[in-house]
Amino acid sequence: MMRRAGAWLCAMLALACAGTAQARSAAETMDILMWNREPVGGAFELIDQTGKARSDRDFRGQLMLVYFGFTYCPDVCPTDLMAIGQALEQLGPDADALQPVFITLDPERDTAGHLAEYVPMFHPRLLGLTGSLEAIGAAAEAYKVYFAKVPIGKDAGDYTVDHTSFIYLMDRDGKYLGFFPPGTSAERMVEIIRPRLAVPSR
Ligand code: NI
Repeated sequence: MMRRAGAWLCAMLALACAGTAQARSAAETMDILMWNREPVGGAFELIDQTGKARSDRDFRGQLMLVYFGFTYCPDVCPTDLMAIGQALEQLGPDADALQPVFITLDPERDTAGHLAEYVPMFHPRLLGLTGSLEAIGAAAEAYKVYFAKVPIGKDAGDYTVDHTSFIYLMDRDGKYLGFFPPGTSAERMVEIIRPRLAVPSR
């Protein structure tokens, strides 16, 4: 009993030390999003891949496609980012009124300089955002994104990031329209986004 309590305490302390763990579980976070239990989206204050400060207010008047992930993600993130890039290509000039945004959940490794090498691989207009652990945590909380640092080796630097991978579509006022599940095709995104782009800003 004591040993189990001790192990539990260590686990809790490790999570606290990691600094990126959230109070809500993955299931709870997903429920909030899937059943629209709480508002999704909101203010963020982050830094783009050129080192410039960026906030959600910079994108008023444009639709926003927001995706959270990390550059060391082996498959899910690159697949979804590739689909986002393809959707932009398919939208052609209409995509000028759509800002795709990639927000890292691994700000320790994903510096602005690192994002500058990563985001252009998917689309020249893809904006990469990073920031302090606190700023990233606040953005993830606003968008109901679950993420947790998971060690995979002996070194402190050996870790992966478990995270929910929804693609959020925001309107010209920064309000939440809905999400695409991970693995959504570019064609499906275009089908939903194109009519939204036809609605002018108020
Ligand atoms: Ni990922």
